[in-house]
Amino acid sequence: MYENFYGLAEPAFNLTPDPSFLFLNKRSREAIEQILYSIERREGFAVVVGDIGTGKTTLCWALLERLARKEIRTALIQNPMLSEIEILKSILQDLGVRPEETDPDPDNSPHRIFDTEWMRGMTKKQLLDRLNMFLAQRAEEDVFTVLIIDEAQNMSLGLLEQMRLLSNLETAKKKLLQIIFVGQLELDRKLKSPTLRQLNQRISVRFETKPLSREDTERYVRRRIAVAGGAPRLRFGSGTFRALWRHSKGYPRMINLIADRALLGGYLERSGTITPRLVRRAVRTLQGGENSSGFKPGWFRRLVPYAVPALVLIVVVFFMVYQGLTQ
Ligand SMILES: Nc1ncnc2c1ncn2[C@@H]1O[C@H](COP(=O)(O)OP(=O)(O)OP(=O)(O)O)[C@@H](O)[C@H]1O
Ligand SMILES: [Mg+2]
Repeated sequence: MYENFYGLAEPAFNLTPDPSFLFLNKRSREAIEQILYSIERREGFAVVVGDIGTGKTTLCWALLERLARKEIRTALIQNPMLSEIEILKSILQDLGVRPEETDPDPDNSPHRIFDTEWMRGMTKKQLLDRLNMFLAQRAEEDVFTVLIIDEAQNMSLGLLEQMRLLSNLETAKKKLLQIIFVGQLELDRKLKSPTLRQLNQRISVRFETKPLSREDTERYVRRRIAVAGGAPRLRFGSGTFRALWRHSKGYPRMINLIADRALLGGYLERSGTITPRLVRRAVRTLQGGENSSGFKPGWFRRLVPYAVPALVLIVVVFFMVYQGLTQ
């Protein structure tokens, strides 16, 4: 809506986990490198936990992008609230597994929807056998398989343990599968439960996504704007980033929501400069206190509290003048 006004080529604050907008501070850059290293070394599990809206799913997509090499096969499971059999089917589907190893390998593009009809009615054992054979064949070809499970806090303890057994699949020489669990903070508590001691011991990288600092909030916003094509007519007034950080608490999803509404507010006022006042107004709009399309100019809003006393004063003066004239 406001993109043309600021000179943006595309929306800068979408709520999708688009990896092209990825902003990495020092901490998360190091974490990604550690996860990639652990994959390279075929070490146990990696776990990424974090509060809601701190960028876990975005990190999953960023990892998939970094892993997009021909010697690595990846699968991303985004809804692990499925049953064991359904999860196995999703894994097979996402990896592009065919009914027989001899069937031609389909194009493994990330956006392809693979056929699942052949899995209908298969038992857990049959699915596991097929997965095992697929992984072993890939290992023969020096292709390693990485499975990322997002929202893993929703998995039951039994299912988490099943994942450990899955990662045990290995040939005499090589491990066949590396699993990265990604989820909300309660995942960490789940992994520490006594029934998952074996799994917990094999976690080689743990990372927590955290809200951004004041400085990183500014870098994050500037990066998104730059990726969206830059905005030659957009300025930020003094204190704007501090206000944005204070109100979003540094949570990327909140930063996106508030920044988007603040830019909309600036556009409605035909002002290319985003100020702390526009940020505060954006927050009120998001909290349902004010309709963005009903933005009123600042001077109008400031006059509202004085309107009633002023009206009373006018009536009293009018009444006194009227009385004076009629006496
Ligand atoms: N590192 C980042 N770089 C760029 N954008 C990010 C980053 N982290 C988060 N975002 C943005 O913040 C929003 C929320 O991020 P994301 O969905 O990854 O959070 P989440 O932690 O997975 O949330 P939930 O707990 O609800 O699953 C998205 O719009 C995403 O674009
Ligand atoms: Mg997520």
